Amino acid sequence: MLKIEENISLKAYNTFGIEAKARYFVCVNTIEELIAVLELPNFPNKLVLGGGSNVLIVEDIDALVIRINLKGIQILKEDEHTVEIRAMAGENWHSFVEWAVNNNYGGLENLSLIPGNVGTAPIQNIGAYGVELKDLFISCQVIEISTQKLLSFSKQECQFGYRNSIFKTEQRGKYIILSVDFELSKIPHQLNTSYGAIESELLQRHTAQPTIQDVSQAVIKIRQSKLPDPANLGNSGSFFKNPEISKKAFEEFIEKNPKAPFYKISEDTYKIPAGWLIEQCGYKGKRYGDAGVHEKQALVLVNYGSASGMDILTLAKKIQASVQCKYGITIVPEVNIIGEIKK
Ligand code: EPU
Repeated sequence: MLKIEENISLKAYNTFGIEAKARYFVCVNTIEELIAVLELPNFPNKLVLGGGSNVLIVEDIDALVIRINLKGIQILKEDEHTVEIRAMAGENWHSFVEWAVNNNYGGLENLSLIPGNVGTAPIQNIGAYGVELKDLFISCQVIEISTQKLLSFSKQECQFGYRNSIFKTEQRGKYIILSVDFELSKIPHQLNTSYGAIESELLQRHTAQPTIQDVSQAVIKIRQSKLPDPANLGNSGSFFKNPEISKKAFEEFIEKNPKAPFYKISEDTYKIPAGWLIEQCGYKGKRYGDAGVHEKQALVLVNYGSASGMDILTLAKKIQASVQCKYGITIVPEVNIIGEIKK
């Protein structure tokens, strides 16, 4: 039974813990329910909310907010070496990773403890410690909001990039992801432990021949040591993307800042960690009212309790301006800002 509620607080539905109200709110548990909601004629403005882990809500939402609560994990097919798995959009991402790791299906372990849901993971091609969602992704099943048509998007069609996909760019707001298919490995797994922090964590554990369970545990430990748990301190993970700059800009930058960390992406592209830039601008650990910059990772903005979305956004803009002024580098948010565009 569909229950449309009015004036519902979204505080529990966004990991920043921002207090904002939805004019209307509905939670859908099946695809049939979702279709019924999309067909409702009285609600022209609709907004889909997944795990709420990558949004900053800056004002009350005068629309029907749809929470996707589709559940289920199933094996589609398997052979000796690989297994194809379908996870429904409303599954919690980390619970899904744990399920895979516990069943000894490899590939997702580096993506342990990322907040959010399965259905929102492809939108920004979540990534951590040398692995991105696209590395395991086969396809996703979606519904077109305007027609209620069910479609499938292949990996190629999703046009994945660094924290990016077609669902964030040209097809933004047109589809709702219902489920995602992944290809995972069976033993022997190919581990990805080249990321420095994972290597040293495994070394500390004296794990000579690490398993996917060891890698998952190492990633969990690293994340817990650096990144705040949204259950204790409101946040949305990295607030900004790491900026990519041209070779020419990089050469000028590194001459002036020889100690800066960087990653070479291609012959002409270099990535500079935004966390380092923000820290150099003096923001790490700073607090303005209840809006702040995390003390252990400057890329993460936090809500100490009652910050509004606007408080966080104001701080974000201040940081952007400061990095621009000191380094001439533009940093842009990774999180989706809801509400500001209209103004
Ligand atoms: N750094 C600083 N100061 C800081 C933070 C970082 O100097 O306050 C420096 C570090 O010393 C290091 C470099 O910046 O040299 C990179 O830091 P880190 O390894 O912590 O990774 P990141 O680039 O800041 C990215 C992702 C994270 C992901 C980690 C690990 C983005 C926007 N963020 O962060 O993803 O967990 O790498 O792979 O790409 C997320 O997207 O929400 C997220 C947490």
